[in-house]
Amino acid sequence: MLTNEIKADLVKKAFDARNGSYSPYSRFQVGAALLTSGGEIFLGANIENASYGATICAERTAAVKAASSGKREFIAIAVVGSQEGSTNDEMAYAYPCGICRQFLREFLPPSGDIVILVAKTPDQFLETTLNALLPHSFGPSDLDYLHRSSES
Ligand code: THU
Repeated sequence: MLTNEIKADLVKKAFDARNGSYSPYSRFQVGAALLTSGGEIFLGANIENASYGATICAERTAAVKAASSGKREFIAIAVVGSQEGSTNDEMAYAYPCGICRQFLREFLPPSGDIVILVAKTPDQFLETTLNALLPHSFGPSDLDYLHRSSES
């Protein structure tokens, strides 16, 4: 069960993960902490590239680490993003981008939704869900036709 204690821990870990940000171009540092259905936590940060489009967001860094470790059901993800050197007053809520919403959607748990915690400070965060941020989404079952027999 996703208790308040676990949520607070995820948010704190997202702040830790943000220290791993490599963002020399935007100087916008993002950290994410992802909880899988097995109870494991994977951390991620945004990693930019001189070829800007090759940049990967913090959420996808965490998701790729989890999925490539064989953990493919995500329960919750905490995210924090802000300009390098921001003071507590300057921190704002930074929601996952559209690509990350779609990327996370691939790995829904049996409940059919993922809790998203968007943090401003380690003690201030908002809670929403993936389905709220990405309604009417496209997912694996939309490709079920690939597996249907051509004889039926
Ligand atoms: N970024 C993330 O890491 N996650 C998001 O959901 C939005 C944007 C990163 C990408 C880039 O390194 C920087 O923030 C500015 O766009």
